[in-house]
Amino acid sequence: MAAKRRQRSGARLAIGYPPCQSARLNRNFGTRDGSRKGFVIAVDGPAASGKGTIARALAKHFGLPHMDTGLLYRAVALKIWRWGGDPNIEFEALRACDNFGFDPDDEELRSEPVSRIASKISSYASVRDALLQRQRDFAAQEGGAVLDGRDIGTVIAPEADVKLFVTASAEVRAQRRVRELLERGMPGHYDDVLLDIRARDERDATREIAPLLQAPDADLLDTSDLTADQAIAEAIRLVEHKLANA
Ligand code: DC
Repeated sequence: MAAKRRQRSGARLAIGYPPCQSARLNRNFGTRDGSRKGFVIAVDGPAASGKGTIARALAKHFGLPHMDTGLLYRAVALKIWRWGGDPNIEFEALRACDNFGFDPDDEELRSEPVSRIASKISSYASVRDALLQRQRDFAAQEGGAVLDGRDIGTVIAPEADVKLFVTASAEVRAQRRVRELLERGMPGHYDDVLLDIRARDERDATREIAPLLQAPDADLLDTSDLTADQAIAEAIRLVEHKLANA
């Protein structure tokens, strides 16, 4: 079932880049202490920066499994939303982290109320701790992985082989989010979405634990003036460049 879903979400991605022919990914990529062998790509950035699209395309191109870590926070948020729980109570948020499963295609995961709750509960240390191991295990799997989120290059996989920090202006991101919401048949008003994006940026960047920030060794990719295809091509180029110099 899960494999079928993965296949389905993969099938939605129509990207015209052939899989990487390079044999380099078959090499062993180790940490400095030689303990890890997979090739890990960390993609971080704010909401609607394009990091998800880029991460999925990189995973497809380099033949690696992909985890959208924001979905974990969204899944916990959705559980609280459906319970009618209070996201301001850390203990309730932590309780929602117990044994949660989710359907990545569930439209409600991307709804605005769930986005707001996800942003709130992701500031709790206990919630971040509860979700940490699942992400680290995914990053540590044999062969490697692509993970996207806010703290992949700084907390989840600080030893990642490639780190990209994807960004775009708040205005461009708001336009993208409105388009996305309307395409999904959900209400989306530019001014409200822009305010929300700015508020969420502020919360994500200023929270005490695992704030959104560019790792010192991450490459910056500003997608404000790029189409999705151009952003993907640039991301592939940056990864290939790192591979060539590894
Ligand atoms: O990337 P996203 O918009 O789907 O993420 C949803 C929320 O989860 C967002 O408010 C930030 C938070 N998040 C986080 O704190 N750390 C991550 N690694 C991924 C997401």
